[in-house]
Amino acid sequence: MNARITGTGGYLPEKIIHNKHFESSLETSDEWIYARTGIRKRHVIAAHESTASMAEMAANRALDAAGLDADEVDLIIVGTSSPDRVFPSTACILQDKLGISDCVAFDVQAACSGFIYALGIAHQFIKAGGAKKALIIGAEANSRILDYSDRSTCVIFGDGAGAVVLEATEEQGILSTHLHSDGQYKDLLYVNNPIKDQLEDGDKAYLTMHGNDVYKVAVKTLGRIVDETLDANGMVKSDVDWLIPHQANIRIISSVAKKLNMPMEKVVLTIENQGNTSSASIPLALDQAVRDGRIKKGHVVLMEAFGGGFVWGSALVKM
Ligand code: ACO
Repeated sequence: MNARITGTGGYLPEKIIHNKHFESSLETSDEWIYARTGIRKRHVIAAHESTASMAEMAANRALDAAGLDADEVDLIIVGTSSPDRVFPSTACILQDKLGISDCVAFDVQAACSGFIYALGIAHQFIKAGGAKKALIIGAEANSRILDYSDRSTCVIFGDGAGAVVLEATEEQGILSTHLHSDGQYKDLLYVNNPIKDQLEDGDKAYLTMHGNDVYKVAVKTLGRIVDETLDANGMVKSDVDWLIPHQANIRIISSVAKKLNMPMEKVVLTIENQGNTSSASIPLALDQAVRDGRIKKGHVVLMEAFGGGFVWGSALVKM
């Protein structure tokens, strides 16, 4: 059994924070942020919203696009590192919001690679006959795990959710997925356990990143995974119509595009207006490019992500 993406959806909170906003409280500037990251602004969740409520908005849009009713879904996987609760999973909270009475529902915690991990797992489920209609989501309330006095992280991340519907099909849509991790890098990018009595004095449950070290490993690793993905499918660089990278840093994205000999017009970019939305960034970018007509049925799309763990992965998809 094969699997194909039959619908996409996205949601971004209404509130937008521009780079200029940070200039009054931090030693930073719009120029520094844009030059080093490619980010101009990011969306931030409102007090009444949650990771699950953003996921619900994105999921409903993806279900509409696929022409499915929620109760036809038999698998929900949410990639998130900023869940509403330690448990139950955001996927279970979402299941309740969508009114689905019985299905498989769980979260995947793979930092910025959460969506690619979720897609890879769902693909295996469908291939093995364990599911027929899956909702795969990346949803993050990053602003709730940011220290707004740390200029090296708070300017980078944004909130949002993206979703796809993945259905069992005769034709091959997901060509392959490739998932990796290397825990030796666990201290370069992390959030401590938010359960307060498990924190040592002075520790905070905030995102901490050694950005420059992360940057160097990310560039090297993502270059390798491009080769691995194309080789596994017997494809060459020119077979790829679109690159949808995790939107971490425009400089990392450009180096992967260069490795693919891909002009930047063939790279779907959202980082300027959304920042790094962690596991939401790839499905948000996919949804944007599908809805504005750039990505069409039959196009070959390479998605790749890298995040805390380190965890990284790719998916080669025929739309
Ligand atoms: N404004 C002004 N100066 C700043 C800011 C800021 N917002 N942030 C850091 N600086 C300073 C630093 O303090 C440092 O100053 P110093 O030289 O006096 O010590 C200087 O700028 C250079 O810092 P670097 O960290 O070396 O800057 P770099 O060019 O590497 O850019 C960045 C930082 C944007 C974070 C980059 O390293 C990056 O994008 N890293 C990768 C991030 C990533 O891919 N993460 C993975 C996914 S995220 C996830 O999994 C949750």
